[in-house]
Amino acid sequence: MPGVPRYWYNLTADLPVPLPPLVDPLDEEESRIALLARILPSRVIDEEYTLSRTLRIPEEVRRAYERAGRPTPLLRAEGLERALGVSGRVRIYYKFEGALPTGSHKLNTAIPQVYYAKLDGAVEVVTETGAGQWGLAVSTAAAMLGVKATVFMTRSSHESKKPRRLAMKALGARVVPSPSTETRAGREALRENPGHPGSLGLAITEAVEYTLSGERRRYVPGSVMESVLTHQTVIGLEALEQLPEEPDYMVACVGGGSNFGGFTYPVIGMKLRGEGFEGTRFIAAESRAAPRLTRGDYRYDGLDTGLTLPLARMYTLGRSYVPPPVHAAGLRYHGAAPSLSLLRLLGYVEAVAYSQEEVLEAAAVFARAEGILPAPESAHAVKAVMDIASKAPAGSVIAFNLSGHGYLDIDAYEAIESRLVSGELKARG
Ligand SMILES: Cc1ncc(COP(=O)(O)O)c(C=O)c1O
Repeated sequence: MPGVPRYWYNLTADLPVPLPPLVDPLDEEESRIALLARILPSRVIDEEYTLSRTLRIPEEVRRAYERAGRPTPLLRAEGLERALGVSGRVRIYYKFEGALPTGSHKLNTAIPQVYYAKLDGAVEVVTETGAGQWGLAVSTAAAMLGVKATVFMTRSSHESKKPRRLAMKALGARVVPSPSTETRAGREALRENPGHPGSLGLAITEAVEYTLSGERRRYVPGSVMESVLTHQTVIGLEALEQLPEEPDYMVACVGGGSNFGGFTYPVIGMKLRGEGFEGTRFIAAESRAAPRLTRGDYRYDGLDTGLTLPLARMYTLGRSYVPPPVHAAGLRYHGAAPSLSLLRLLGYVEAVAYSQEEVLEAAAVFARAEGILPAPESAHAVKAVMDIASKAPAGSVIAFNLSGHGYLDIDAYEAIESRLVSGELKARG
């Protein structure tokens, strides 16, 4: 049985053209790039800019990965193949990141980032969260490695996502509804609108301000940064060892891009280096509520709403874009990681977008066929797999990443409750 990899893979070493760097907004006095160096763990900055193809996973991080249950399983979806009527024609495999204790892939980068923060002498890690997947991962890594965690949680989610809020608190994290009175940005937002529901962009601004206002604190980002995508390659590297055959399609859902990058980049790297997988297609599944890869522009834009962080060249819907509320809150970010955006621009990655209803129906079909309830985010990949399987030529192999389970998002399924009656769901592609 293959173990936890010893190295992460860094795609920027193999890109056919250089990755456009992060830049400062032209009209701002304070350098946002310099700010990053003050708030992020220093090893995260090193990894952001390195061109080394492989980065050694520190032994402490590998041990924590093992304690958390890595390697995660790679499973054959025979039940789904039967439900779709493609048995004997198409083979489907999935990597299951929901097997981790926090229920999603986010723990794969929370562990090294909290470890790096500790190496810098930090006693507290700070971040923001929407639905709470990332906040829960950071709270868990902080508990595992013995540091404090403060999580700014968008106020609307703080009220509506009770299970994750309570889980973070039970793990010892301090969860602050954002906007809060703890920061200048939060107080201003509350003065303008006392009932402000909060936004991810504002929560980032608050988390950064809070990090800067105290000693021995580090801010830890949950996606989009290249270092985060690199940490997530533990998924794809394990999958390469576990897959019994070369996939014709690799599929994953996209928020900021760390789940997709983590699953596909080790294979995309081999393709770019001419080491196999010539025929493999890479499909990114996003939400129609935030369709940056299918409908966004490729340009420089802010990583956060308030321009606290630098600009990145990426597919974006605009940093002020406010997506409609969907249950797949993890897919509501306005942009996609620079490397993923570049791969899309160059034609190495294809993208599809789906509506909430169709992905939840697909998720229910999957749940009945495989016995696992997918996270609303991961359900986008499930839907894409169903579409591909219905049209793919005989003998095709599809591999996808089930980035999380949906047991803490069970209220999402209310949206299709009336159709959860036996016989009403169709396993259509
Ligand atoms: C279960 C799950 N899958 C996928 C994503 C999308 O993540 P990424 O930012 O890595 O694209 C999220 C984001 O929160 C998530 O919670």
